[in-house]
Amino acid sequence: MVWDKWKRDEVQSRLAATPEMLRGEYGYPLKPTAVPTTVQCPNGTFVANLVSKDLPAAAVVLRKAFWNDPRYTSWPGIGDLPCAEREAAMEAALGCHLRQMERWGHIFGIFEKDSQEQTFLRTVIGCVPAWRGDETDLALSLTSFAMAGWDGPTPADEAYALAEDRQKLPTGKPHLYIWLFGGDPEGLGRGFGRAALQHALLIADERGVPAVLETCTLSNRTHYQKYGFKQISERFVPGCEEPWTLMVRKPWTLIVPGRSFGYGSIV
Ligand SMILES: CC(C)(COP(=O)(O)OP(=O)(O)OC[C@H]1O[C@@H](n2cnc3c(N)ncnc32)[C@H](O)[C@@H]1OP(=O)(O)O)[C@@H](O)C(=O)NCCC(=O)NCCS
Repeated sequence: MVWDKWKRDEVQSRLAATPEMLRGEYGYPLKPTAVPTTVQCPNGTFVANLVSKDLPAAAVVLRKAFWNDPRYTSWPGIGDLPCAEREAAMEAALGCHLRQMERWGHIFGIFEKDSQEQTFLRTVIGCVPAWRGDETDLALSLTSFAMAGWDGPTPADEAYALAEDRQKLPTGKPHLYIWLFGGDPEGLGRGFGRAALQHALLIADERGVPAVLETCTLSNRTHYQKYGFKQISERFVPGCEEPWTLMVRKPWTLIVPGRSFGYGSIV
């Protein structure tokens, strides 16, 4: 009991840390930066950190991206709601997840800039930089959900199976966990997703750590394999035709000492 309380207090105190308090350990916000020309996005496309004020817009982009994603269509109490209620429930869940990872500062947006200099958030990639090794568990803990204000329905038990596989895998070992990755359906197929994924993977590579993610469709699995991710386990979840997959990608490059690349670059 005393141990449990000590553990709970420790989790709470770590989750109480603000992005400002953690900058020394996790790096400084990335200023808007043009994406490399190799990703073949429209001219003017840039990547930038998403902070508190951007998170509602990010939740809308992700809600559109994940509208047909099995994680949400199979989620009892969300996937079965009428359209407007489902939109609100998905944005609440996604907004909650974004708040859960916000303190570590690794939520990035890919923005398109048009000829009138108007900007549009096209893709969001939200990661937990688990440089100590336990931040992903911390972010996904019940305490974290409670602190982020989650009071929605619980997913099917089977939906937690991959998380259990993940916990066996990199526990205690530094990694980058890609929690949310999705693009506005209006902007698909123009390289914004490639820009986001490459940005996250570059951070993992520069840090010299594996990238870890879960995905719920076979087409996504194939897509990630092209980027060097390998399947670790697969699980079947009620209401989903295809298995959910846990994937890990080893870093492709070694740490480059002194190289600075926004958040995640402190090595
Ligand atoms: C994943 C996602 C963000 C990609 O966005 P995008 O802007 O259309 O991607 P891009 O235009 O940069 O395409 C990059 C490449 O990925 C491929 N690709 C993109 N999404 C893919 C998918 N879901 N499955 C298979 N291939 C995909 C494209 O064909 C393209 O291939 P190429 O480089 O060989 O030409 C977008 O499809 C999306 O939001 N999907 C729904 C949410 C989702 O499934 N997210 C991943 C959850 S794990």
